[in-house]
Amino acid sequence: MEVLKPYQIEQAVELLKNNQIVAFPTETVYGLGAPIFNEDSIKKIFSTKGRPSDNPLIAHISHLDQIPEIALSIPSIFYELAERFFPGPLTVILKKHPRVPLIASGGRETIGIRMPSHPIAHDLIQRLGQPIVAPSANLSGRPSSTSFQHVLDDFKDFQGAIIDGGVCFYGIESTVISLTSNTPCILRYGCISQQEIELHLGIKLGLAQDQDLKASPGTRYQHYTPQTKIKLFQNKQDLMTYVSQKTLLKQLFLSTEFLEGFHTVSAFNLYALLREADRNQMDEIVLFCLFSNVNPALKDRLSRIVF
Ligand code: TXA
Ligand code: MG
Repeated sequence: MEVLKPYQIEQAVELLKNNQIVAFPTETVYGLGAPIFNEDSIKKIFSTKGRPSDNPLIAHISHLDQIPEIALSIPSIFYELAERFFPGPLTVILKKHPRVPLIASGGRETIGIRMPSHPIAHDLIQRLGQPIVAPSANLSGRPSSTSFQHVLDDFKDFQGAIIDGGVCFYGIESTVISLTSNTPCILRYGCISQQEIELHLGIKLGLAQDQDLKASPGTRYQHYTPQTKIKLFQNKQDLMTYVSQKTLLKQLFLSTEFLEGFHTVSAFNLYALLREADRNQMDEIVLFCLFSNVNPALKDRLSRIVF
């Protein structure tokens, strides 16, 4: 695997044109990218990650002009969302243009589209001259990569390149909203809240139906799990009893509330902390979490990890 610096974007573009996959930073998490019309490269993404073939990839664009090349029957509400939230951490699901290979969309007739605000991601897509499909740059099921080091940890021996863009600004994935059912609905909570979207559109979003969620496999698979096992406490008394016991275990203490001696978990640092536990070969993560106090994106990821 080749490491590139931000001033070597032209080299990354050449690699993409030559059927190599390239990991790149975005403002949310790192992505593992291939040109949207290159089926062979897209196959490499699935095999490199060990990703199930029915889990669709997000198309990353640099300009709204690219939309009609990859989507059909675009509703006006799409442009309302784009006006406010593009570029940025919002992914919008639209009907897919037949030109987009089915392998990119996990076999479905829809495509998730987002315009990253990260300058390296933007530059890469712009210079390639076509959208880049990219899932998060982690081995399937593992926590997403929020820094260059995380990508290296997962893909040291892979064929391709990584652009070193340091640490990602948000540290959690984009919000995914579907415009393909009757009422727009959120399929994955993320950086942008439901309230922000509702406020901007002046409407209430619908509840994602089972069929919408089934069509969004990322919400189905076991996800984001560290190798270190997690012991969850939702009651402070039980927590205190547990931590006061003498133990030889190597423990990492995490809490969603401020607690002395615990790392405070946020959407920004969750994945980095989980990966740190694995890296230091901890025996267990002791997690104190009051789910009712946690924002929806963090709550969603934590629930997937512990339940
Ligand atoms: O912030 C992000 O969204 C990052 C960066 C790299 O852009 N990407 C990311 O991709 O998180 P990934 O593949 O790890 O997660 C994308 C999820 C899928 O698992 C799926 O649940 C949903 O978005 N998704 C994508 N395309 C979809 C589609 N056509 N229909 C329904 N859900 C879709
Ligand atoms: Mg992912």
